Amino acid sequence: MFLDRLKNLKSYKTETTPCKVKLSSNENPYQLPEWLKEKIAEEVKKIPFNRYPDPSSAELKEAVADFYSVKPENLVLGNGSDELIQLLTTVIGEPDRPVMYPVPTFPMYQVSADITGRPKVEFPLDKEFRLSKKEIDIALEKKPRLAFFASPNNPTGNTLDRELIIYTAENNVFTAVDEAYIDFSDKKDFVDEALSSDRIVVLRTMSKIGLAGIRLGVLIAREDVAQEIDKARPPFNITYPTQVIGKIVLTEGREEIKAQINRIISERKRIMDSLKKIKRIKVYPSDANFFLIKVPDGNKVHKLLIEEGVLVRNMSHLPKMENCLRVSVGKPEENDIFINALKKVIEKL
Ligand SMILES: Cc1ncc(COP(=O)(O)O)c(C=O)c1O
Repeated sequence: MFLDRLKNLKSYKTETTPCKVKLSSNENPYQLPEWLKEKIAEEVKKIPFNRYPDPSSAELKEAVADFYSVKPENLVLGNGSDELIQLLTTVIGEPDRPVMYPVPTFPMYQVSADITGRPKVEFPLDKEFRLSKKEIDIALEKKPRLAFFASPNNPTGNTLDRELIIYTAENNVFTAVDEAYIDFSDKKDFVDEALSSDRIVVLRTMSKIGLAGIRLGVLIAREDVAQEIDKARPPFNITYPTQVIGKIVLTEGREEIKAQINRIISERKRIMDSLKKIKRIKVYPSDANFFLIKVPDGNKVHKLLIEEGVLVRNMSHLPKMENCLRVSVGKPEENDIFINALKKVIEKL
């Protein structure tokens, strides 16, 4: 009875099969350079670990605001954007009004709704993983109060139609545009809309650009909206080490991060170009640091790739994703191992 709401939830598990090439979690494959790690080590040593961190993360916020060209007052910081998704699901609108999101997408929208006991309105993307107005209109009939749109979307990699995202917000739905992968895209973001609207916010994360380990997510919103949401944030959600490390990397390490992002974007093109030459596989377009492929037998190819030492994410169990694998862009040498392993595995089928 007490734990009823958790009955259908599963603990979050990532695939941990040890493989020499790990292309399964959409991480940045590059480490921070040694000089930056040394700088971080020096500053971490100075942390008074017996003290609580600054609850407003003021110094880190300055650095994040500068990084995104907004003001600190436009920000809410989270322990990863996962926490911000959970926070929005908890505080936006009435708890008995649904959360809407397209599927397939990032699973945390569903998990957060289930944890908070909020109704969900899941609506399908079309065959090419695009939003459809017809499906949005059907979802809107259920009177949702909150919408999540991951754009670029995970696991499909494509950018969603901006007009339809705005259309959803105009229909009285508080709309969170999750731009976890926007750094790898040349499409326009939603920051201008977030800064001027009472119902559009943008989510960003440091996890995809090299700092998955420190857990730092960012919500960008109009000042009054950000300040309201910030009231519901757990006061010490951003740890002392995260505040210190985040600030150093976003200031002194900024050029390095940008260079890594550019390397990932050019590797994405190189891998996708060479995969397109392999018969019997379909490569979907991507604006992210990963891409989706469709193969003749998803489960089997996934397993055989592991035998070749390459771990990718098997998406075959999801609706509309039969035989699809999601592959993160790695370092050039890792990508070469993946390309050759895939060729070998497909030939064997
Ligand atoms: C669309 C999307 N949003 C958010 C996240 C989670 O980010 P964080 O590591 O900041 O919690 C992910 C991670 O895979 C994601 O794909």
